[in-house]
Amino acid sequence: MTIRSALHLAALSLTLFLALLFVSLPSELRAEASAPSSKASPEELEVYRKLLERLNAQLFESRYLGIPTLQNPLDVWVTQEILFEQKPDFVVEAGTFRGGSALLWATLLAPIVPDARVITIDIEDRRLEAAKSHPLARTRVEFLLGSSTSPRIVADVARRVKGKRVVVILDSLHTAEHVFAELEAYAPLIRKGGYLIVQDTLAGPTEGIQRFLEKHPEFEIDRTRERFGITNNLGGYLKRVR
Ligand SMILES: C[S@@+](CC[C@H](N)C(=O)[O-])C[C@H]1O[C@@H](n2cnc3c(N)ncnc32)[C@H](O)[C@@H]1O
Repeated sequence: MTIRSALHLAALSLTLFLALLFVSLPSELRAEASAPSSKASPEELEVYRKLLERLNAQLFESRYLGIPTLQNPLDVWVTQEILFEQKPDFVVEAGTFRGGSALLWATLLAPIVPDARVITIDIEDRRLEAAKSHPLARTRVEFLLGSSTSPRIVADVARRVKGKRVVVILDSLHTAEHVFAELEAYAPLIRKGGYLIVQDTLAGPTEGIQRFLEKHPEFEIDRTRERFGITNNLGGYLKRVR
């Protein structure tokens, strides 16, 4: 078995495991998990949070092409669907870490838009050599060092993607204040019908998202993207609807 097929098999097994976890949820919670937040009771949210904590503990052991990558496989699948539908020229990712997710987005994009690029931003360069030297990373991933909300970085990104179709993925500092600032900074890059994805929404940014949505009725939460029932991006798939 090649390394590639072994990785594919491992990803498939993890997805199956997560699906089984989901099926083992009580049906009310399953329904709630598909469209939770406002209606979920504190107890139900606590169960959901615990389940995600268990999943997230495993994510630190997860690798993409051997590179630690902190992504929920079910959200990766949903993101893959969004990328196929949107056919973006650029994915802008805030929060690079080891470079695994940027390489993953680049891999998913390659057969969809041959010239597409990933711009990934982090306050520290902690990319593994494997993430920097991979041919896809060399040709399709651009790393920007700095804060995702610094005016210099925001202007640099806006200049690079001007006039292009963009999907934004926010996975840096998950505080409400920082995510609100990121949403304000990157929302202008999104055309009608496009997506801004806030990751790890149970880690703190919900209030920031709410504040942003109150100010920007042109964006709505797309609950259809939560259909697997387990997502790290609960209330975070934001679609520009007008
Ligand atoms: C959750 S990790 C990113 C995980 C990565 N996307 C993955 O899937 O493997 C968060 C990253 O955000 C970075 N970060 C923290 N504050 C930031 C900021 N203000 N701007 C950009 N990146 C930041 C951290 O250095 C860290 O590498």
